[in-house]
Amino acid sequence: MGEKFKTGVMGWIDARFPLSKMWNEHLAEYYAPKNFNFWYYFGSLALLVLVLQIITGIWLTMNYKPDAGLAFNSVEYIMRDVNWGWLIRYMHSTGASFFFIVVYLHMFRGLLYGSFKKPRELIWIFGMIIYVCLMAEAFMGYLLPWGQMSYWGAQVIISLFGAIPGIGDALALWIRAFHVIALPIILLAMVVLHILALHEVGSNNPDGVEIKKHKDANGIPVDGIPFHPYYSVKDIVGVIVFLIFFSIVVFFMPEMGGWFLEKDNFVPADPLKTPEHIVPLWYFTPFYAILRAVPDKFLGVVAMGGAIVVLFFLPWLDRSPVKSIRYRGSAYKVALGIFVVSFVALGYLGTQPATPVMTNFARLFSLLYFGFFVALLFLHKFEKTKPVPDRVTSK
Ligand code: HEM
Repeated sequence: MGEKFKTGVMGWIDARFPLSKMWNEHLAEYYAPKNFNFWYYFGSLALLVLVLQIITGIWLTMNYKPDAGLAFNSVEYIMRDVNWGWLIRYMHSTGASFFFIVVYLHMFRGLLYGSFKKPRELIWIFGMIIYVCLMAEAFMGYLLPWGQMSYWGAQVIISLFGAIPGIGDALALWIRAFHVIALPIILLAMVVLHILALHEVGSNNPDGVEIKKHKDANGIPVDGIPFHPYYSVKDIVGVIVFLIFFSIVVFFMPEMGGWFLEKDNFVPADPLKTPEHIVPLWYFTPFYAILRAVPDKFLGVVAMGGAIVVLFFLPWLDRSPVKSIRYRGSAYKVALGIFVVSFVALGYLGTQPATPVMTNFARLFSLLYFGFFVALLFLHKFEKTKPVPDRVTSK
């Protein structure tokens, strides 16, 4: 940037708004550990998908009609008659599933490297609030086309909360208001808080070493590098790979064989005809399986809610002083492995009809899921951890 511009235009702005200060604090002088690996792409990718969802969502809103009688046809109109409407809609529906893929990998990274541990508890809590909002956002978005699965999915969830109001225009309007305005604003605000909290304490890394412990004469962490340009450029690699996968789905398999858009949702909602299997989309099925695994409906709701709530407490449940899985004992590795297998297995079981055999498996994996958190309380007592290095190891 020219000197003149810096002192001229930028000087004018900086005297009125902390633009350079923010740029430096969060980008050019935000020192991130130099050993970020594959798992550290998913934070910036989550940001990318968030922006994609907001932009495509705004364009969908231009032609969508929030009316129980008109919604389904307005979506068909977007798909067939609006210029590039099919692209915008498929980007948005694919974006929803990719959002969860990215966020689940992002959360798993936290489990790998103990990123939720002190002093990053609040980053994790804000992350969990984001995750819950994201689930609400996705659930409500799925209702909007007013297809069979929108309608019957809503029936299942609403019935869980006791009352089944007549699904009508008022509800359609409210759902749209939440999906289009309220939740996105909360999501955006939470993401800002998430990143502010992160930048306050600094990023963790695959070694789980606090880079702020070793600073040079200028107060800069010796194992840190400026986020910009090093990681801003590196993250572009992640973006390109992500967009390749994203485009393959959007252009060649937008329904992903029913995993990203269910076949039943291409049929208009019919309150008189219950679909054979009412199944939520894949990102909800682990919790749906837990709900169905419990014979009592109320306790099922408690278990399903508990499966999410317990994640909020992770920073206090895992008591090991060692953060990264690299230096943790095999006990944690085994426990985490079982947890991941249980979560994926529950996800699969949630898509299947609840036969007695399947239900018993769902019970087993639900126990293992909750068992992970109970195990964490005691693991540190007999876990044989390795010595944690003082500085980051991978260059
Ligand atoms: C819209 C969703 C989200 C966005 C845009 C987002 C964004 C980010 C970004 C940009 C970073 C820094 C880069 C990185 O470490 O990968 C980050 C870090 C982090 N996020 Fe998220 N995040 C989201 C959801 C979540 C969720 C759901 C959780 C967990 C419940 C979470 C937990 C964390 C943690 C613990 C870190 C610090 C990681 C470390 O330093 O090792 N995030 N997030």
